[in-house]
Amino acid sequence: MHEPDRQAVLEQVRLQLSERLARSDGGPELLEDICRILERTVPWYDWVGIYLVEGDELVLAAWQGPAATEHVRIPIGQGICGAAAREGQTIIVPDVREDPRYLQCFLSTRSEIVVPIIRDGRVLGEIDIDSDRLAAFGEDDRELLEWVAEALATRLHQLGASAP
Ligand code: SME
Repeated sequence: MHEPDRQAVLEQVRLQLSERLARSDGGPELLEDICRILERTVPWYDWVGIYLVEGDELVLAAWQGPAATEHVRIPIGQGICGAAAREGQTIIVPDVREDPRYLQCFLSTRSEIVVPIIRDGRVLGEIDIDSDRLAAFGEDDRELLEWVAEALATRLHQLGASAP
């Protein structure tokens, strides 16, 4: 089956996310909805989760994908997730089998992107996406997801960083 090109898919998902973010209900279902839109719209996003920082841990707040992860709490500094939270920088791993920091969740995962949600220099949480494709994530994904993270940083800040 012919797949729509990346740019078209990413434009479509950006539109859907904008519409969802514009609905200012501020409820905890926002994070679930963001995960659902990302996972259902982008074929190379196989598992999408949002972790929030609680003390020195990342706690899974919302996720969407074929299976649950056992990594519902990750100490900051552990795994790709913990590294991105500690560094406050997006991390793209083209082949998880080659990265010693990787904490395995699903056997099928080949690549991963983790985008921190930052407000006033403080990491509030992060968006974590696994793909079954090798080197699935490019600068276009980074740009889209950093835009989502920025929008979420404002929302979480408004909610006192305690959502959901
Ligand atoms: N792979 C992540 C752990 C979270 S799961 O992918 C959902 C990591 O290395 O931190």
